[in-house]
Amino acid sequence: MQYQWYPGHMSKAKRQIQDELKLVDVVVELVDARIPYSSKNPDIDKFAGNKPRVLLLNKADLADEARTKEYKAHYEKQGYYVLAVNSKGGSGVKSVLGVIQEACKEKRERDLKRGIIGRPLRAMIVGIPNVGKSTFINSFAGKNCTLTGNKPGVTKGKQWIRLNKELELLDTPGILWPKFEDQKVGLRIAWIGSINEDILDIRELAVTLLSYLYENYPGAAAAKYGVQECGDGNEALERIAKKRGCLQKGGIPDLDRAARFIMDDCRAGKLGRITLERVPESKENEEDEGTKVTGDYGGKD
Ligand code: G4P
Repeated sequence: MQYQWYPGHMSKAKRQIQDELKLVDVVVELVDARIPYSSKNPDIDKFAGNKPRVLLLNKADLADEARTKEYKAHYEKQGYYVLAVNSKGGSGVKSVLGVIQEACKEKRERDLKRGIIGRPLRAMIVGIPNVGKSTFINSFAGKNCTLTGNKPGVTKGKQWIRLNKELELLDTPGILWPKFEDQKVGLRIAWIGSINEDILDIRELAVTLLSYLYENYPGAAAAKYGVQECGDGNEALERIAKKRGCLQKGGIPDLDRAARFIMDDCRAGKLGRITLERVPESKENEEDEGTKVTGDYGGKD
């Protein structure tokens, strides 16, 4: 499974993010709470330098609450200010302003000492495609904010959303890239539906997902599809296809059709609130542990 990012896109995106970051005091990165590690950009810390970083675990309504808490603690240990939010439903969004202010407290104090008073903080939303950046900006900024633009010192054409006296938000989010060299990360991004479907093997996705569910959320597939679960994802897919009457001519199970509705159900949260990876035990082994998911990866692991 390959991402559709090309070297040209990458270097342009990097340059743009680096330029825009110069304009802001704080970076607010959105990740998908179902795969916080896999949907996190590998380079943003480097680009952000010493700027405070806020991490929003978005789509928390679809993720397993207990694991979201673990991820929150995990990233807090790494120096992020972390909040779980549901940008679509709105829960948690109101608390983001306070968290941004908290993250910028030291900067504020430094400004005060230098006699800088009343300048609003500037923030920028960043994240890989489809994590909910636009949805969040709409929900966070609401309708009662004003757009400001072309201020001195601001790159021409940039628009800022003024939330209140204290905070301005760059109106276009920064689009980051995932850890696309890691195929396991690619698999998980595909599970949540954020990779162009045309390039995916839907059956492989469903088989690996069913194996993951068997290990991590026993009972979820059985409750939804009324089949006896098993550790072999291929077998589980066949059982579900038969149970749901997905059959081709001659009674052969139509595995592609079954795989399609399983993936749709998973992405829509119909299999329950599930998180599709586990918190690594420490930063050092994040590369290994964060991507370790038990299950059948069809030889890709
Ligand atoms: P992006 O700017 O980062 O690319 O993401 P965008 O806001 O376009 O959101 C991508 C999809 O994720 C949208 O669904 C959006 O509704 C959904 N979404 C965003 N935040 C949340 C959240 O907190 N919880 C849930 N459950 N979904 C969220 P879509 O199907 O593409 O569009 P729509 O049919 O919902 O309009």
